[in-house]
Amino acid sequence: MSKMYEQFARDYEKAITDNIYNGNLERPSLIAMLPELAEKSVLDLGCGPGVYAEYLISHGATVTAVDASQEMVEIVREKFGEAVKTYAQDLSLGLPEEKDASYDVIICPLTVHYIEDVSVFFGDVKRLLKQGGVFIFSTHHPVVDFEVSPSGNYFQRELITEEWDTVGHPVEVSFYRRSLTEWFESLASAGLCVTNLSEGKPSERMKSLCADSYKRLSTTPNFIFFKCEVR
Ligand SMILES: C[S@@+](CC[C@H](N)C(=O)[O-])C[C@H]1O[C@@H](n2cnc3c(N)ncnc32)[C@H](O)[C@@H]1O
Repeated sequence: MSKMYEQFARDYEKAITDNIYNGNLERPSLIAMLPELAEKSVLDLGCGPGVYAEYLISHGATVTAVDASQEMVEIVREKFGEAVKTYAQDLSLGLPEEKDASYDVIICPLTVHYIEDVSVFFGDVKRLLKQGGVFIFSTHHPVVDFEVSPSGNYFQRELITEEWDTVGHPVEVSFYRRSLTEWFESLASAGLCVTNLSEGKPSERMKSLCADSYKRLSTTPNFIFFKCEVR
C-alpha cells in the first residue's frame, strides 16, 4: 500500500476534493454513469476518504464503504459516524463479510489497478450484486499507462512505479497496467457484462481552474470507466 493512502491519507483527502484529475475529471465522469440512487443499497469499494460516500448518501443511498487503508476507514468513520458502515478489507481477497445479492450498485473508483489478480474480486462483485444491479469502476486508461510501460509489451500485465505530486510533494505509487482485452476477459470470466464504457469528460469548472488542463484532457484520454451488469 502506497504511503499516499496511509501516512498521507488526510493530505490526500484535501488534495482530491476539487483538483483537476479527481474532482474535475474522474468523479464527474463516474457520477454521470450512476443510476438513480434514492433508497438504493450501494457498496463503495476503495472508498478512500469518503468523497464518493458523501455524494452517495446525499442522494439518498444507504452506503457501505470499504478500503484496505485503516487510515481511510478512520476518516470515513469520523466524517459519517453511523450514517455509513465502513471497514478495512484488502479487495484482492474479495469481500467475505458481505452477503450474496445484497447491493443495487457497486462502485470502485480508481482502485482496481492496485490489485494484481482481479479474479477473486470480480467474482465477489458479481456475487454481491442483486439481479439488475450495476457495477461501475474507473481506472487508468490502458493507452496512457502504456506510455510508461517497462516491458514495451502492451499485452503483458506489469507493475509500474511512479512518483505522484497529488499531495504537494512526490510520493511513490505502484500499480498494475493491463490491456483492455484483459479487463474484458476478467469481467466476462466473473460473469459480468460491460453495458457502457466511457473515456471521461472534464467538468466545465476545469476551464476556469486550468484552461491548459481542460484543453489537454478534452482531447486526450486519461481514465476509462466501465459499467457492468450480471450476465
Ligand atoms: C486513488 S484512491 C481512490 C479513492 C476513492 N475511490 C476516490 O476516488 O476518491 C485508491 C484507494 O484504493 C485503496 N486501495 C488500494 N489498494 C487496495 C486494495 N487492495 N483493497 C482495498 N482498497 C485498496 C487505497 O487505500 C485508496 O484509498
